[in-house]
Amino acid sequence: MSGSDFAYDFPHRNLLSIADLNPLDAEILFSRASHWLEAIRTANRKKDALKGLTQINLFFEPSTRTQASFEIAGKRLGADVVNFSAASSSAKKGESLADTVRNLAAMQADILVVRHPAAGAAAHVAALTNAAVVNAGDGMHEHPTQALLDAFALTRRLGGLGGRRVLIVGDILHSRVARSNVQLLNLLGAEVRLCAPPTLTPVGAAGWGAQVFTRLDEALEGCDAVMALRLQRERMAGGLIPSEREYFRFWGLTHKRLDAAAPDAVVMHPGPMNRGVEIDGALADDEARSLILDQVEVGAALRMAVLELLGENARKHNGGRA
Ligand code: CP
Repeated sequence: MSGSDFAYDFPHRNLLSIADLNPLDAEILFSRASHWLEAIRTANRKKDALKGLTQINLFFEPSTRTQASFEIAGKRLGADVVNFSAASSSAKKGESLADTVRNLAAMQADILVVRHPAAGAAAHVAALTNAAVVNAGDGMHEHPTQALLDAFALTRRLGGLGGRRVLIVGDILHSRVARSNVQLLNLLGAEVRLCAPPTLTPVGAAGWGAQVFTRLDEALEGCDAVMALRLQRERMAGGLIPSEREYFRFWGLTHKRLDAAAPDAVVMHPGPMNRGVEIDGALADDEARSLILDQVEVGAALRMAVLELLGENARKHNGGRA
């Protein structure tokens, strides 16, 4: 059989922002991700839910995890997957994002997975095409599949997020991961905390639905999970922290620091990770406390769920192609 064997009318053409989702959407995505996780842990990984559909991964910024897992997810579901890298494309010759998208749409792309340095780029792409668009990170705005995979990994470990206290610590100012995570964690009933140096705390963060701290030991109190974020040097004009060594001393996660959190609190990181800056390498590698590689594993399954549900809708809206 080609197509998904799962009947649910996912009420979205695209995945651009966590703000578009409700708790039922998240529940359905987690349920499908659980299904795919079980499937990919067996040798029988190849499915055909996206058979006949073309998925283009359109990356204008570097990526290891997101691009690889969307490629793996699409291929495991039977899509024809094309990887587009801005560095080796005609974007280098001055072609605009809009013209790039129009050309790819003319090749009958069904799903576009978009990463771009500009906030709003994925929504811009969605307005130009009938293909399903997945936001794989747009500037400092959002990274919805990262938040979904984080919440999925955490739900699996904690058995639910209702009433759980989750801290996000690090470069909140430049983080699309933090912006998506705060929304989703709130949607799922968690209590969210943010901690950063004042220079890396966005103006208005107190209005995001999270408690804001500058001192890590205070912020950690009673937390069930702590997510460390990288310093995004590529988005900094400079001078926002005194030095990496100083930063680690005040905001770096270590086993000792974690004593202030709830017993058995877990640590997370979306990657890429800078060991010895935002997190101690020994803590990152501690399998009893660290969910970091779990996040990556379940991320591929979660992205299969996203592609499956959006792919079904793309099939309905593309005039029955495939
Ligand atoms: N978490 C994340 O987006 O990692 P990549 O930049 O490697 O895709």
